[in-house]
Amino acid sequence: MKILFVGDVVGSPGRHILEQFTSRLKAKYNPTFMIVNGENAAHGRGITKAIYHQMLELGYHGITMGNHTFDNKDIFDWIDGADKMVRPANYPEGTPGRGMMIVKANGKKLAVINLQGTVFLPALRCPFRMADELISEVEGDVDAIFVDMHAEATSEKIAMGYHLDGRVQAVVGTHTHVQTADERVLEGGTAYISDVGMTGPLDGVLGMRKEDVLRKFKTQLPTRFEVASGREQLNGVLIHIDDATKRATKIERIHLTDQSIFFD
Ligand SMILES: [Fe+2]
Ligand SMILES: [Fe+2]
Repeated sequence: MKILFVGDVVGSPGRHILEQFTSRLKAKYNPTFMIVNGENAAHGRGITKAIYHQMLELGYHGITMGNHTFDNKDIFDWIDGADKMVRPANYPEGTPGRGMMIVKANGKKLAVINLQGTVFLPALRCPFRMADELISEVEGDVDAIFVDMHAEATSEKIAMGYHLDGRVQAVVGTHTHVQTADERVLEGGTAYISDVGMTGPLDGVLGMRKEDVLRKFKTQLPTRFEVASGREQLNGVLIHIDDATKRATKIERIHLTDQSIFFD
């Protein structure tokens, strides 16, 4: 089994490069499942129903979110019906949407769990205990479990990797928008990376216009951040899982820009 995961899609540049490269990623890697993080897909803030459907039409089997899930207030009109999207599971009880879903493709069942860290982010419920609870609900019923750990602190993400090692097939970090080079398969057979990186502008600051971010840092005045334009990048990972042992065997980083010569 192979899982392709694409990191945080930011605004229209992110959606543009995603559209441009998805069919080629599919042809090159032939993934069993394709998952994408959409928390910044609508102008950097949240996701719309139209974008949700566009991502599914591109062939993604599921969408994960993060701390920006509820930035568009119209999401409350449709999130409960969006059964191919997960928001962090450890939001307070009663929060609209779902934190885990089971997606089916190519004869396989994959549980997708979204968690949010609590270091330098709002004090949600404990993501470690939440993960335990969710895993106990699905283990044995699915072929693999994939976790998007949306968090700021690398320590919290690495700790989650070890907490779940051997119990899930992948723990991938999102949210910091910068791809880390620490991808590895942990001893128990769980594929891990601290951050997959984002999909969107290459020359902004985490996807936002550099001028806006510099103004904010230099003046400390309230500043509205707009999505950057210009060159684009796509960041993701490809996870290989041995169907017999259920262990991840490999995790490969994907980093492409619109200048990349994609396939030779
Ligand atoms: Fe993000
Ligand atoms: Fe985030």
